[in-house]
Amino acid sequence: MGARTGLVDGERPGVRTFTPRWRTSRLTAERMARLLPPRDVGFGPLRLAERAGRVAPLVVEIGSGHGAAALAYAVQHPEHEVVAVEVHVPGVARMLAAAQALGADAVPNLWVHRGDALPWLTASVPPESVAAMHLFFPDPWPKAKHAKRRFVQQHTLDLIAARLEPGGVLRIATDIEACAEHVREHLARHGRWEVREGERPLWRPTDGFEAKGLAAGRTAYEFTAVRGRGEGSSR
Ligand SMILES: C[S@@+](CC[C@H](N)C(=O)[O-])C[C@H]1O[C@@H](n2cnc3c(N)ncnc32)[C@H](O)[C@@H]1O
Repeated sequence: MGARTGLVDGERPGVRTFTPRWRTSRLTAERMARLLPPRDVGFGPLRLAERAGRVAPLVVEIGSGHGAAALAYAVQHPEHEVVAVEVHVPGVARMLAAAQALGADAVPNLWVHRGDALPWLTASVPPESVAAMHLFFPDPWPKAKHAKRRFVQQHTLDLIAARLEPGGVLRIATDIEACAEHVREHLARHGRWEVREGERPLWRPTDGFEAKGLAAGRTAYEFTAVRGRGEGSSR
């Protein structure tokens, strides 16, 4: 543990958890220009109550990919506001198009931040304001020398715990055994979570990276981590 930083050896807050590489087709660019602005929460203070015209529980999906889980959650939980956070532009564009295909005014509770979840959670999301965070099939970074790039680290758990309401829930799924072990160890070491394993959310479609894992003969490890009520926000 770094004496002054609170970081475990090898952790660096600035390490990227994603690969910033993709091609933006004309269709993707057109979808982003047309469909993102009405749902874009941007960077800066999150003013969802103003935008949505109501106060509702906030659910954040980190690394939503092409957005099937975020969209399904938003459709099935109209009483919640959902922010899908994703760096990958073609994935965001696909989710926006899928939401639009349900009808021009459909899924008004689905919002987007196109960018890195870590600075956004740090700067834009108030402490203890999120009811649930979802991290489904995060990039596995399978080589041991890349383990510091996996999303779950002690400092990211600090941030997530600080943004979740007391009793808020962090749901994680991965189909890579080494990542499941990594998540299990980090949650246990962090110590602010009551962890249950094996509960697959019924609302989540079998899609995206879960479908790829199933096709390759893998199964998903599911973690439901409830933030303890004891400690307040530390960041
Ligand atoms: C393996 S994909 C899984 C996508 C989706 N959750 C699924 O299950 O199909 C992981 C996604 O997380 C995104 N990602 C990784 N780190 C991120 C970060 N710090 N902020 C936002 N998105 C991130 C990547 O761009 C990628 O789309």
